[in-house]
Amino acid sequence: MTRKILVTSALPYANGSIHLGHLVEYIQTDIWVRFQKMRGADCYYVCADDTHGTPIMLRAQQEGISPETLIARVHEEHLRDFTGFHVAFDSYYSTNSAENRELSQQIYLRLKDAGLIAVRTIEQMYDPEREMFLPDRFIRGECPKCHAQNQYGDSCEVCGSAYAPTELINPVSAVSGSAPIRKQSEHYFFKLGACDSFLKSWTRAGHLQDEAANKMAEWLQAGLQDWDISRDAPYFGFEIPDAPGKYFYVWLDAPIGYMAAFAHLAEQRKLDFDAFWKPEAQTELYHFIGKDILYFHALFWPAMLRFSGYRTPTAIFAHGFLTVNGQKMSKSRGTFITAENYLRHLDPEYLRYYFAAKLTPHAEDLDLNLEDFMQRVNSDLVGKYVNIASRAAGFLTKRFAGRIGTLRGEDSLLLVESLQKAAPQIAEHYEQRAYGKAVREIMAAADRVNAYVDAQKPWELAKDPSHADALHEVASTAIQVFRLLTLFLKPCLPHLAQAVETFLRIPPLAWSDAAELLSPGHIIGEYQHLMVRVEPQQIAALLAASADSLKSAEAPAPHSQARHGQAQQHATQPLQPTVGIEDFNKIDLRVARIVAAEAVAGADKLLKLTLDIGSEQRTVFAGIKASYTPEDLVGRLTLMVANLAARKMRFGESQGMVLAASDGAGPFLLTPDPGARPGMRVK
Ligand code: 2FM
Ligand code: ZN
Repeated sequence: MTRKILVTSALPYANGSIHLGHLVEYIQTDIWVRFQKMRGADCYYVCADDTHGTPIMLRAQQEGISPETLIARVHEEHLRDFTGFHVAFDSYYSTNSAENRELSQQIYLRLKDAGLIAVRTIEQMYDPEREMFLPDRFIRGECPKCHAQNQYGDSCEVCGSAYAPTELINPVSAVSGSAPIRKQSEHYFFKLGACDSFLKSWTRAGHLQDEAANKMAEWLQAGLQDWDISRDAPYFGFEIPDAPGKYFYVWLDAPIGYMAAFAHLAEQRKLDFDAFWKPEAQTELYHFIGKDILYFHALFWPAMLRFSGYRTPTAIFAHGFLTVNGQKMSKSRGTFITAENYLRHLDPEYLRYYFAAKLTPHAEDLDLNLEDFMQRVNSDLVGKYVNIASRAAGFLTKRFAGRIGTLRGEDSLLLVESLQKAAPQIAEHYEQRAYGKAVREIMAAADRVNAYVDAQKPWELAKDPSHADALHEVASTAIQVFRLLTLFLKPCLPHLAQAVETFLRIPPLAWSDAAELLSPGHIIGEYQHLMVRVEPQQIAALLAASADSLKSAEAPAPHSQARHGQAQQHATQPLQPTVGIEDFNKIDLRVARIVAAEAVAGADKLLKLTLDIGSEQRTVFAGIKASYTPEDLVGRLTLMVANLAARKMRFGESQGMVLAASDGAGPFLLTPDPGARPGMRVK
């Protein structure tokens, strides 16, 4: 029977850019979905932007636009980025949709009817100036434990302790800067504690990875707290039925967004919604998520579904976080890489392959080591795989009019057979999300192919016309197995596979085609370059561009990676921790005259500036090209950090930094008032 499968990835927040940390998940999911589709399953992959909540509301206010305008723009950007990485959703929707409103209200009302909603008055921090309750991350103050200044309302980044925002000393609203007051209000709670026995058995019934099930057992053991699902106006979200001024907390309607996205798809494609969501559904439902949002997906979500009369997920697949060169992605190291920036410099299939090669079914962290990335792509994809076609195709097209010959020799037949026999094991690895193992098997097969070609030496055979048959057989064998390798790699490298299908003049490869071969007499097309090597300069340019663009961009969208527990997103550009005057005095700020300015070949955002600071001249690469034409800058005064350690960049050494303001708009270069002279110290 044809499997019917619905697959989701977590819904990204609609106020930040997609970056490589997000892409681990979307690439992991996309590979699985493509594999299922190749196997002939009726598989649907849906996702959406997660559009509600205070941070999105405030971000829109800051930009002077409506939240609807903001989320429409971000939706377009997200979809562009995902498409750029060949992540192929069947539907990429929005949680701010009619379907989601209706389903959220319906599920809430059913939970209420089931006696699972409680109403209680609680006290929270309130910004009297902006007349709004403040999420924990929008309150800053002194840590009650270690007295570090300027800490978030839920936890201290210095000593790591967690606390209630009401415990912060001298709290300040990050929205208005005013002192928040305590204020009472009625909140709606989902009685998770009442779902305890259901959750104890559900979390042990094979729907979770072992490590996740163990984590849930710890939480269940500690006892489940009721979950606060309401927020007071002003809030961007759905109003709760019969509760004017109360809105569903973003995390209530976000997972329901999975259903809504599917409802939308079902409407478009005339699919049976109930077949995927009714309790007795025979279909499969999988959620791919990051390990930090397990609590929502393995406890809240199944409980919400179960007690509102819907089916629960078949499985939840959690993955780990991405590190770059062994460390958390960092703006200052230039390793906070957005999807957009990556795509400006490198082929998306390099990353898809590299992630696949390192992915396991467990929630382990995954490291993108850029040196290893380059070597692996070059040696595996270009050196081992693509090379097979480039070595063999020329002989076939030039000597045999592109015609595939009949395989007779034992070596050829054994080689082809060994690849065909590997297909079920490779499929099983994909099915189990053990992509690293799949890739290892595929590359081991590519090694066997290359060993065969090396042993047969077609370039020698080509020298002697009496060996034409042997040459034909070797080249034909190589193309036959190249086709099989392409089929195996297709979930990871869909575009490359498509180019190969065109080159071989064959219809799209399905998994079952592994049992077949090209028929003798089939004529292939002209070989075109399929993939080029990654060059070190491309990586350097990507890092330089990432460092630059982030100087002028807003604080990164706090992806799941940056979040702890239920805390939400940061305010845009939160204040930095306080520094003492001694620290400030260490910075040598000087007035500088721009004596020369020029664009930098190969860098989209950089200008090369020559700065006169009285005693000497400095070269500085500044990420300000978006706002300035080089000629206009010459002669102008600005401010620079004169004692910043020199940094080697691909284009040369940068000996300092100019000061510019930005919050997404800009950058705006700072200029002293008239009278200031180059070299003057700024204090
Ligand atoms: O952590 C996040 O980025 C959330 N926006 C994920 C939501 S997933 C689902 F539940 F909607
Ligand atoms: Zn502290």
